[in-house]
Amino acid sequence: MEEELINLKNNAVSLILDVKNKEELEEIKLQFLGRSGALTTLIKELPKIPAEKRKEVGALANEVKQTIEETIESQITNLKFQTSKKIRAKIDITNPAVLPPLGHLHLVTQAIEEITEIFRSIGFKRVRYPEVEWDWYAFEALNFPPKHPARDDWETFFIDEKPHSKYGPMILTPQTSNGQIREMEQTKPPIRMLDIAKCYRRQSDVSHAPMFHQFEGLVVDSDISIAHLKGVLDFFVKSYFGEKRKSRIRPYHFEFTEPSFEVDITCGVCLGSGCKLCKEGWLEMGGAGMVHPNVLRNGGIDPEKYTGFAFGWGVERVLMMKEGLKIDDLRLLYSNKLEFLQQF
Ligand code: PHE
Repeated sequence: MEEELINLKNNAVSLILDVKNKEELEEIKLQFLGRSGALTTLIKELPKIPAEKRKEVGALANEVKQTIEETIESQITNLKFQTSKKIRAKIDITNPAVLPPLGHLHLVTQAIEEITEIFRSIGFKRVRYPEVEWDWYAFEALNFPPKHPARDDWETFFIDEKPHSKYGPMILTPQTSNGQIREMEQTKPPIRMLDIAKCYRRQSDVSHAPMFHQFEGLVVDSDISIAHLKGVLDFFVKSYFGEKRKSRIRPYHFEFTEPSFEVDITCGVCLGSGCKLCKEGWLEMGGAGMVHPNVLRNGGIDPEKYTGFAFGWGVERVLMMKEGLKIDDLRLLYSNKLEFLQQF
């Protein structure tokens, strides 16, 4: 029996070391260790061995089993190694690599990140407020009279939802100024808010899309003046458009600011002298003004104690006004045309 076991072991080991693939190895495993395999059959004979020798032979049988199992394991590792060596040998490292196609952030996302960073550097906190909003936040609390044309459904999208008893109809935000009231409800002065969100209006032409983005700034503190607004505006224009561009504020009217302004920057093509694109040297960027006392009151802030300024500018608009970008139709940004997007 001992001799048989030793022969079996030698035989199995040499067979195992000779195999070329996993299937052969499985077969050998079955042949020796399977239920009716050679070693199993021999072990079954153990009870027939005289008692005084049984222990010794039993130990040998175990050792043989272990050796066979270990050899199988090491051969599996060996085979794996050889396969990977074969694969490696097939790779010709002098071939130029095939790179996976790499995308990039959308132009508008890039602009949002850049704008956020510029304002962050002067202490503005980036926030987001609902884009599906109640009339109260988008109009009423912002001092809009009941019949204001912006509330017309030619200008604003209305949601088919029962009006709220306190907040009125549900709409899609036509501007980010709802963020002013939402922020005042949540934070007490000093406030330095930057709210970037989607806006929706019923309009579509080369410079308007029904969905676009605005970035809304709100600063409320004691003794805030127009000079602070102008300082922030200049800082943004220089940081985003470059040192050569200038800004100006021009009297205008908004319901929720008093006084109100429209904000212009010098044209990127002629730098202010006047050209075919801008005609007079200036391009309009959006609105701004000193927060109306009624708006502060609606936000729960005492207008006798605090003053503030607000602005709302278009992300797509500033993007298109940036030097070097010649986009002649704003809607291209949302056309999902790779030929267009891949240029940036
Ligand atoms: N909400 C105004 C618009 O969409 C812009 C604005 C924001 C004006 C804040 C004044 C203050 O045109």
